[in-house]
Amino acid sequence: MTTTHDHTTHDHTAHDHTGHDHTAHVHDVAEHVRHHHAHLVAELEQLSTAFAEAVARDPEPARQRAELVRWIEEVLVPHALEEENGIYAAAARLPEGRALIDAMSREHDLIRSMAAQVSSAAPLPASVWGRALYATFVSHQAKENEIILPLMEERDPEGLVEAMAHHH
Ligand SMILES: [Fe+2]
Ligand SMILES: [Fe+2]
Repeated sequence: MTTTHDHTTHDHTAHDHTGHDHTAHVHDVAEHVRHHHAHLVAELEQLSTAFAEAVARDPEPARQRAELVRWIEEVLVPHALEEENGIYAAAARLPEGRALIDAMSREHDLIRSMAAQVSSAAPLPASVWGRALYATFVSHQAKENEIILPLMEERDPEGLVEAMAHHH
């Protein structure tokens, strides 16, 4: 069973650098955002569940709460701010994006106020706020993936690439 492939026949046709590469790049940028959102969902799921389960065993689970609060401060809140300064600002410049981004920015305010309850409320309600924050974030990031990103890919792909170039 010897099969040999003649690699010299492989087609190395040069890519067209005007259209298709650009479209592929925009798609990659959008997929990167969706992938990052999935990562954030998984982390918040794990941390909020760990806090809620710990409260059931220990009325003051300081470590699990501190880990969730640190993630909120170091990851979730900066993510929202980057979006507001990046993709949200770009989408808000589109006529179809203005009202959408107004509503989504208000949801960022809601997320930040829920996050504040996770750090300031008594442990039991704080753990429930943590699970509510998770459910809210799942819905929120789905709207970014399924409404904002397709809008930008369709109407302002260069603005999407430019906005994401400033993200870390
Ligand atoms: Fe967001
Ligand atoms: Fe997001």
